[in-house]
Amino acid sequence: PVPVIAIDGPSASGKGTVAERVARELGWHYLDSGALYRLVAVAAARAGLSLDDEGRLAETCAAMTIEFRDGKAWLDGIDASEDLRSEATGIAASKVAAYPRVRTVLLTRQRGFRRLPGLVADGRDMGSVVFPEARLKVFLTAALPVRAERRHKQLMEKGMYAKMPDVVEDLRRRDERDATRPVAPLRHYSDALFLDTSGMTADAAVATILGWWRE
Ligand code: CDP
Repeated sequence: PVPVIAIDGPSASGKGTVAERVARELGWHYLDSGALYRLVAVAAARAGLSLDDEGRLAETCAAMTIEFRDGKAWLDGIDASEDLRSEATGIAASKVAAYPRVRTVLLTRQRGFRRLPGLVADGRDMGSVVFPEARLKVFLTAALPVRAERRHKQLMEKGMYAKMPDVVEDLRRRDERDATRPVAPLRHYSDALFLDTSGMTADAAVATILGWWRE
């Protein structure tokens, strides 16, 4: 069986960076499941779909072709990398992610990323729903002010000016929406090892997870 390491946690916890580096260190494949939800949002925007239309969104999600190649994300053959990262897409993604039918379609697609020699998958429900058989499950988080710092730095690097209080408020609202929705809410499930990276560098977080894996 193909081994899986599941890394779940809230927005801006640093799990993407850490998961990608763990994958690189091990020479494994990497799945950014948030990117799939974001791609559904991009596909919906391209097709002019309403974010209230669960049926059409699920159909679009089933029909879209996705490719991660040359460091870019391709949706139906067109480069979607830039749209993917926008704040508007993130907000739309968290809306489409609340629909059970969208999640069901993505379930199969996500499992398709499981290939030898192994997969590191990051998201909200990698260890609880998508890969319950994962050999290592990590719930990675950081204190809200630390996550806000990280998100703020990320935004500035993209040349997007944002005020710190707005970033904090946005994360708080996103946590609330991710935690209170009926399907795949953000939570720390019992068989995941908890990793608070508040006072930790990405290097240290990567080393901790690799240590757990080798144990
Ligand atoms: O960067 P950020 O953590 O805000 O978002 P992301 O990981 O790119 O995911 C975008 C949205 O998809 C999140 O706000 C979640 O609501 C949703 N998501 C989900 O429901 N389940 C996952 N496994 C991954 C993401």
